[in-house]
Amino acid sequence: MRRGERAWRPRSTARIGAVTARINTGRGAPRAAEFFAGIGLVRAALERAGIEVVFANDIEASKRDMYAANFDTSDFVLGDVRDIRGEDVPDIELATASFPCVDLSLAGRRRGLAGQQSGMFWEFARVLHEMGDRRPTATLLENVPSFATSHGGEDLRAALAQMNDLGYYCDLLVVDARRFVPQSRARLFIVGSKEPLQAADDWQHGFRPKWISQVRDRHPELRLHALPLRLPPVEVGSLAAVVERLPPSDGRWWDAERVERFASSLSSLQAERLASLRASTATTWATAYRRTRAGRAVWEIRDDFISGCLRTARGGSSKQALVEAGRGRVRVRWMTPREYARLQGAHDYNLDGTTDNQALFGLGDAVCVPAVEWVATQYLRPLIDGRLTAQGEELGVECDGGGCAPQMNEAETRADHIDLLPGGVDSSGRLFV
Ligand SMILES: C[S@@+](CC[C@H](N)C(=O)[O-])C[C@H]1O[C@@H](n2cnc3c(N)ncnc32)[C@H](O)[C@@H]1O
Repeated sequence: MRRGERAWRPRSTARIGAVTARINTGRGAPRAAEFFAGIGLVRAALERAGIEVVFANDIEASKRDMYAANFDTSDFVLGDVRDIRGEDVPDIELATASFPCVDLSLAGRRRGLAGQQSGMFWEFARVLHEMGDRRPTATLLENVPSFATSHGGEDLRAALAQMNDLGYYCDLLVVDARRFVPQSRARLFIVGSKEPLQAADDWQHGFRPKWISQVRDRHPELRLHALPLRLPPVEVGSLAAVVERLPPSDGRWWDAERVERFASSLSSLQAERLASLRASTATTWATAYRRTRAGRAVWEIRDDFISGCLRTARGGSSKQALVEAGRGRVRVRWMTPREYARLQGAHDYNLDGTTDNQALFGLGDAVCVPAVEWVATQYLRPLIDGRLTAQGEELGVECDGGGCAPQMNEAETRADHIDLLPGGVDSSGRLFV
């Protein structure tokens, strides 16, 4: 980040409330409906942006229980989105949908939007359609970036065309959680706006990899735009800020035999990595994951001191292990639910009464709070408040603290361009590019 530049930083709910109250004078907080709400991490992010969730829906009772331990559930509808009608949704300014990724992710069967799970996108679209004139000002879709390649790009085109038909211009962003937390988790966000935005032509932005402008070029019939946005600073916390300090006697550490099996599965390069961690003079942490190589399960230790993308832990192979090493010793264990919560930027998430499996499942499937918070404060909130549209008179409004989205000139934006973080994180947690 250059000297003198104002950077966006995650902020506390109270502070955000103070900023947005001034912008929104005369109006209450914007209201949102949260579809595919899961354990509520989209809600956690929206609340930090001063947006109130007035309707939520998810089908999983175990996730609703986690949601209930953290938020008011009087507006939560537990059930199938296929049973929700437009008239069930109260008046809102924003509708969010982090719909299932199973059929879109590279790890899945790639049935795409024809799949039973990811196809729930169409149900979200149907509910919006049924809302008629009450459709919200803004929408937010969230999914994996491989949505863009599903069925050769046809699924993404079809979804964008559907949002266009519902009256929304679309803007695409790929935001990686590692901008905010020590977790690699790139996610595609699609912001829908009922109005075209002013000067929204920033296709080379650091959160817009080249394929996004290629989608625009290939499909001139789609109504797409690209809002100039200030990038958050390239600093993340280190794993040290995430790791629970468990005493050596804690039963969650693997026994010597299991650690030995772990170590003996490592390739020679990996074994060298472990040896160097073991030899370090201070305690260091790294994450490790299992892979199958030539039909054999082997462990690999990440060399960038962040965690890989958390996943739903139903299978078990998707779980990541934590290696604690230094001063000649090595310990290994699975990561804990609290560590998962911290890696999702939800440090204070209440996990009381939640089983470990339930927590790992819910958190692995959830969103990274500060990443969504960034989208909400920098984009959704100014959009809902009418500060970005052609009619908005307050474009470029200044408000101390960066809760608003000040327009950047072209030179500033270009200088900030970083294409999807090709670098890594050093052991102190600083991200280099
Ligand atoms: C990617 S997760 C969303 C996670 C959520 N944003 C969070 O932070 O926890 C997708 C969610 O869709 C829900 N879901 C799947 N099929 C559904 C359906 N037919 N009706 C309603 N919700 C459904 C799942 O239970 C899951 O919680």
